[in-house]
Amino acid sequence: MTYETVILGAGAAGMMCATRSGAGTLVIDHAKAPGEKIRISGGGRCNFTNMYASPENYLSQNPHFCKSAMARYTQWDFIELVDRHGIAWHEKTLGQLFCDGSAKQIVAMLVQEMQAAGAELWLQTSITSVDRTAEGYRIKVTREGQTTTLNARNLVLATGGKSIPKMGATGLAYDLARQFDLPLTDTRPALVPFTFSEDRFKALAGVALPARLSNDRTSFDEALLFTHRGLSGPSVLQLSSYWREGEQISVNLIPETPVFDLLRSQRQEAGRKALTTELARHLPGRLVDFLAPEFDLNGRLADQSDAALRNLSDRLENWPLTPSGSEGYRTAEVTLGGIDTDALSSKTMESKTIPGLYAIGEAVDVTGWLGGYNFQWAWASGVAAGSAI
Ligand code: FDA
Repeated sequence: MTYETVILGAGAAGMMCATRSGAGTLVIDHAKAPGEKIRISGGGRCNFTNMYASPENYLSQNPHFCKSAMARYTQWDFIELVDRHGIAWHEKTLGQLFCDGSAKQIVAMLVQEMQAAGAELWLQTSITSVDRTAEGYRIKVTREGQTTTLNARNLVLATGGKSIPKMGATGLAYDLARQFDLPLTDTRPALVPFTFSEDRFKALAGVALPARLSNDRTSFDEALLFTHRGLSGPSVLQLSSYWREGEQISVNLIPETPVFDLLRSQRQEAGRKALTTELARHLPGRLVDFLAPEFDLNGRLADQSDAALRNLSDRLENWPLTPSGSEGYRTAEVTLGGIDTDALSSKTMESKTIPGLYAIGEAVDVTGWLGGYNFQWAWASGVAAGSAI
């Protein structure tokens, strides 16, 4: 069977690409349903884009690479598509847009758009081998127990990253990149909770608060959540993309107000108050109990010297912690790194050396922050490739 274009992967990027490459396109996926990660994303409501998406929200060895595709297919273009399909949405926080109803609406929208464009979709199809031919590519697949050979002029790698193997993630895009001599950057789990040894925060499991998490390179002000195994919540997931094994991070537990000024003025106004009582006005009580022995939280406010208050505020604003690791690909939302952008055209996502070979979405070394940025990259890179084909 001959197609103009075969797209490997019916995820966010692959489906979006097919809406543009249209007739003569076949999209192949081994899963039972297309867009499984879309379906489970955003707690079932899909954080489908971010109003503030811009190239600064992406990590890549070449931070300029995403600019062209992102400028030509913006968050406003995707919002227009969602509106056209009558899908109601709302902003949750920080520009993050979610469906009012269900993430399944986004999957249905993409399937409908693919069909309208004339693309075909084969599910539950395993990819056995991919080879280059004089005319393009030969893809051997198995479907309903039958082996079929497909020929295509263009091949699009859209099988995503390695995160959440249970959801059907495989390293196929990386394996094929290696086969075709496309360079890869190191891959690692990102947007992932931190783990700590010896059940360090077990007593705090479930405690959440707004915090500022930092390392030498960056910082994020968002919610922090203590878990049985360590730290999670948006601020942690964000920082995890910038963290390397063995590195220390710093937690500011009261980021909104200078803690020293706050405690000093309270010492004047309510000196008889216990230090822990005052701190419990700004921090969850369980966290204050947990910190009391480590931070020496004894006595009344009036008992604290300026030096003691300064020391305490420094510790609350810069609590140094060293994660023992991360939860890994089992729970990571994305894979950092991937197919080296040096090998691809930033306008079309086509290989610079191998005609007709494209790579899009998470498989490429472009990784967004938490908050709808990764889908926006999937849409934009999918449109870039699909329009060029
Ligand atoms: P994607 O993973 O979507 O698609 C790849 C497709 O290839 C899959 O359908 C898979 O079955 C198929 N495939 C893989 N290997 C194959 C093989 N060997 N043979 C055949 N098919 C194969 N982002 C965001 O912006 N907002 C959000 O709310 C969320 N939420 C979220 C929640 C969770 C739990 C996760 C894990 C991830 C998110 N993300 C997110 C990230 C987002 O899901 C991700 O970045 C995009 O889905 C990437 O799109 P791709 O099309 O590149 O890969």
